[in-house]
Amino acid sequence: MIKLAPSLLSADFWALGEDIETVTQAGAEVLHIDVMDGQFVPNITMGPLILKALKKRTSAILDTHLMIANPEQYVEDFAKAGADWLSFHIEATNHPHRLVQQIKDLGVKAGAAINPGTPLSALEAILPDLDFVLLMSVNPGFGGQRFIQRSFERLANLKAMIESLPSNHQPFIEMDGGIGPENIGELAAGGVEVFVAGSSVFSAKDPAQAVKSLLSKAGQVF
Ligand code: DX5
Ligand code: ZN
Repeated sequence: MIKLAPSLLSADFWALGEDIETVTQAGAEVLHIDVMDGQFVPNITMGPLILKALKKRTSAILDTHLMIANPEQYVEDFAKAGADWLSFHIEATNHPHRLVQQIKDLGVKAGAAINPGTPLSALEAILPDLDFVLLMSVNPGFGGQRFIQRSFERLANLKAMIESLPSNHQPFIEMDGGIGPENIGELAAGGVEVFVAGSSVFSAKDPAQAVKSLLSKAGQVF
């Protein structure tokens, strides 16, 4: 189940609808929406209003990455606005187990995102309850940053943790940050199923071609 999730953060907001059509028609099944609040991360982006507008026009999966403090307070708003997948940061809550249940009760897939500097053990207790893990390969806050190479090792460790769980309790792995043609094949081989790609799609000369070529490289598991 390899999927590409172009990050709208790098799209052209004047032509957002066009950009979305371009990437979904080229084969992207997921749209990655980066929600930042200026507190959890030093940047401010978009909120539920944007999701609501997108939901009316696209059938793509709306993958909502909450980089916000107090995620408990906002998950319902994002679910109502049309989020299909919701991930919160493990660093942003004291009650991750309760929050996962809250998200699932809203009928949405629940994911936990983890920063490059946070030990994977922080996820251990909730791992069997998650639908997916969003493994960050850059520090969240901005698009266009360089992939942190140590993420390969973290991916291998996360994969091993997941494989030790009963097969009906194994979350899938989504990776986010600095993903492009140079690393997507190796990441797919390492077990990533959903790839967030912002600048490598929208800053490419031909975003449709970039989607196709990233997807085909991700399929080339060696
Ligand atoms: C970083 C965001 C990412 C970002 C990815 O804070 O969570 O989703 O937009 O952009 P690229 O692919 O350019 O690193
Ligand atoms: Zn993201």
